[in-house]
Amino acid sequence: MAGIALGVRREGHFLVAAGLDIGLADLLAHPERPITDEVKLQRWLEERAHGAPLAYLSHRQDFFGRTFFIDERVLIPRPETELLVEEAILLAQPRWRGDFTIADIGTGSGCIAITLALELPHVRLWATDLSASALEVARRNAFDYAVESRITFLEGDLLDPLPGPVDLLVANLPYVSSAWLAGEPSIAFEPRQALDGGEDGADLLRRLLLLLPSYLRSSGSALLEIGEEQSFLAGWAQEHLGGTVTVIPDLAGKPRLIRLRT
Ligand SMILES: C[S@@+](CC[C@H](N)C(=O)[O-])C[C@H]1O[C@@H](n2cnc3c(N)ncnc32)[C@H](O)[C@@H]1O
Repeated sequence: MAGIALGVRREGHFLVAAGLDIGLADLLAHPERPITDEVKLQRWLEERAHGAPLAYLSHRQDFFGRTFFIDERVLIPRPETELLVEEAILLAQPRWRGDFTIADIGTGSGCIAITLALELPHVRLWATDLSASALEVARRNAFDYAVESRITFLEGDLLDPLPGPVDLLVANLPYVSSAWLAGEPSIAFEPRQALDGGEDGADLLRRLLLLLPSYLRSSGSALLEIGEEQSFLAGWAQEHLGGTVTVIPDLAGKPRLIRLRT
């Protein structure tokens, strides 16, 4: 019970801080600050009680230590995706001083591409999405972090919009199975196109893997986020594509990424 009470209090603080457009630390340091828009806060509390995610109410979500603008047009960035960013930095860092290019496929809010642009200041990026409205959010975030000149946002299916091969391709594509999605109310607020990976959750990943050889430069790599159920794709990719395919687990030991080196 204490845990639930603390969680509720923390959410309350988070919403009040977002409503006042200040940071959580600032709110906690100055609890005497008056609430300026009670109507909005009351509406948020009601929507939250009906299950609306905090990030869609506050339009904020932290990812890799930075805050991104989020709304219903995009998936809410998940902490587990930070592993993909960490691995991408490890792969790119020894080589990024040259002409190093990265593609982020299914960019959503842009959280992966923008974080990589900020962590690897000389790389060039392409970020694609099938959803034009998701790209509007990604562009806004890129502008807020002043990296819009280094990321080219492109609308289209998987790798179709890319102008040519890249050194590193990263993707957090939809990988939830349609059946699981149908019975899961906790993600009902998020765009279906950002989650639905077909019958076994692997439809898009399989399609992407088959396209990869034409889109990776020599000594290039790909990093794909997966759920536990899609780890079979590593063996499938090894068989169909060759190269070196590795499954990278998360801190809980669950398969979380497939890394492919040409
Ligand atoms: C799981 S979300 C990931 C969003 C973001 N990269 C992140 O990690 O928070 C998947 C994204 O892939 C996009 N998407 C779905 N099908 C696609 C396709 N065929 N080609 C390109 N993007 C696609 C969705 O619109 C969505 O933005």
